[in-house]
Amino acid sequence: MSGSSSIRRKHLTIALPKGRLLQSVLPILQKAGLTPEDEFFDSKSRRLEFDTSDPNVGLIPVKPFDVATFVAFGSADLGLVGADVIHEFGYEEIYIPVDLGLGHCRLSVAATPEVADQPIGHLSHLRIATKYPNLTRNFFAQKGIQAECVKLNGAIELAPKLGLCPYIVDIVTTGNTLKANGLVEMETILEATSRLIVNRNSFKTKSDSINHWITAFREAVDDKADAA
Ligand code: PRP
Repeated sequence: MSGSSSIRRKHLTIALPKGRLLQSVLPILQKAGLTPEDEFFDSKSRRLEFDTSDPNVGLIPVKPFDVATFVAFGSADLGLVGADVIHEFGYEEIYIPVDLGLGHCRLSVAATPEVADQPIGHLSHLRIATKYPNLTRNFFAQKGIQAECVKLNGAIELAPKLGLCPYIVDIVTTGNTLKANGLVEMETILEATSRLIVNRNSFKTKSDSINHWITAFREAVDDKADAA
């Protein structure tokens, strides 16, 4: 049986990040032994929960930031998500057993070339557009600077151009988006890759099956590294 009613009876739920990251994590999911049902790949489907080749495991594709939240609250037992998102929330309920070695990126401070040329060390206050207010505030607090964060959910690179704020903190992978929008990378806050995360309570109550999947993901990562 498939469909939204079936997943509540699944033993395990895995949260996957929708969007660009999904394409990079799907091969490792398959290598670990989980194939999503066909409808998972149908962009017209409005379903939010999907079956897999393992009758005990269901998938929920959600926004990358929400992967951490679904797992922290135990609505999903496992999740695949970037270390940037994990550190932004800092949920204590999340255990991070496997670095998937995928989705390499960095969280960086950027600005227009004119602003980037000015030293910021002497400033006491900055206004910054970002999806990552906690990491941003902590990074600048260590320099004795108070970061006033304007929270955006995407297209962060527009903010300096449109006068919203002079600085941004955002994910950089190739650097093409910064370049295309006339921005210069100033400093790296953290380097990140995708991780397998586990709800700590699920890890206790479903230890056999969760340990099985931790091992399967570790082996899938090792296989990938051997093949490279
Ligand atoms: C991310 C990030 C940057 C871009 C960086 O955006 O927020 O905008 O990727 O990648 P690059 O360095 O390779 O150009 P994403 O496409 O995920 O969408 P978003 O704007 O909704 O965050």
